[in-house]
Amino acid sequence: MYGKFGEVLRAELDSIREQGLYKDERVLEGPQGAEIRVGGKTVLNFCANNYLGLASDPRVVEAARRTLSEWGYGLSSVRFICGTTTLHRQLERELSEFLGMEDTILYAACFDANGGVFEPLLDKDSAIITDQLNHASIIDGVRLAKAQRFIYNHADMDHLETQLKDAQSAEFRLVVTDGVFSMDGHLAPLVEICDLAEKYEAMVLVDDSHATGFTGPTGRGTHEKFDVMDRVDLITTTLGKALGGALGGCTSGRREIIEWLRQKSRPYLFSNSVPMMICGAALEVLKILREDPGPLKTLERNQVRLRSGLRELGFDVDEGDHPIIPVHFRKHDNDAILAQGMAADLLDEGIYCIGFSFPVVPRGQARIRLQTSAAHSDAHVERCLEAFATVGRKHGAI
Ligand SMILES: Cc1ncc(COP(=O)(O)O)c(C=O)c1O
Repeated sequence: MYGKFGEVLRAELDSIREQGLYKDERVLEGPQGAEIRVGGKTVLNFCANNYLGLASDPRVVEAARRTLSEWGYGLSSVRFICGTTTLHRQLERELSEFLGMEDTILYAACFDANGGVFEPLLDKDSAIITDQLNHASIIDGVRLAKAQRFIYNHADMDHLETQLKDAQSAEFRLVVTDGVFSMDGHLAPLVEICDLAEKYEAMVLVDDSHATGFTGPTGRGTHEKFDVMDRVDLITTTLGKALGGALGGCTSGRREIIEWLRQKSRPYLFSNSVPMMICGAALEVLKILREDPGPLKTLERNQVRLRSGLRELGFDVDEGDHPIIPVHFRKHDNDAILAQGMAADLLDEGIYCIGFSFPVVPRGQARIRLQTSAAHSDAHVERCLEAFATVGRKHGAI
């Protein structure tokens, strides 16, 4: 049987390779950081979600090491059998406090949090109203629920209102949005979303994976930035980006909802507990965030400098205030070739970043997506700008 199946897969793989859709994985030869080893050389990394630069921070590594020694490697259990430790409880309490929510439930990843949040809460009499560009894990999670589905055009508040009107016959309504959309670094209009949700009696869920830890005055997320902390009912987020970068996620929100998820959410009930060393490291990250505003300030300085520097050089970069900085080629017919060619030459210049083109982004919207980190020094940012100037001129992009 397999022979024929394997042949079909080989043909499909060849086909996506020919279409330029095959994803090659770049292999790092050392730890994650501002400087990484790739292909035998050291380059500056401008494409990780290591926003606060904590992925290899000695304090976080030491906390993981300490917890590993004290608690062992794993629990060999789901939470409700014998997989809950005081560390899990403490991390859930501290995440609730940090996010300004009543309670929190941990998952192995935010993908699981999103996969397990909709189905237990919303049945066929309820409605989910979801942004068209929400993350894949939200799309999958929504698919698993029996609830009615209303998809609104990306960040289009008129369309959201229309969909909310259409969903009025549902018993319960939930509006779902990414807090930050990762292809552009655009923030969701949370004030308007909360206003509409209130007007049409809907709850609000925000996936703040690209915001938790560094967005808002004290890094709590987009709900803090937009001053709607008491108007958002649920937050899903990850420990795999700013909060240490290893693995793990959570859903945080209203007390009864979290209690219900502990009883009913399948990726929680039927999957192993988050390893204690991750809990220990995440607790250390939260301690750093409480005591040391340094990384937040450095991240802000880096994103402002890189964004303004690129704009001064003449690159097509939107105004914004998130460490995701897309460099567009909207005025060029050959945008995809430019994005790919420039990313390759930038790597030769010691800057690692990624060019995205169709079908990852719509046709004509190819871009290089840069991500700044608190781990970048001023000199790193200046080197990135110098490399963009050199490579941009060579390709006629500026
Ligand atoms: C918006 C958003 N939600 C969820 C996830 C999944 O997070 P995790 O890596 O914890 O599964 C990601 C990661 O890419 C994301 O960007």
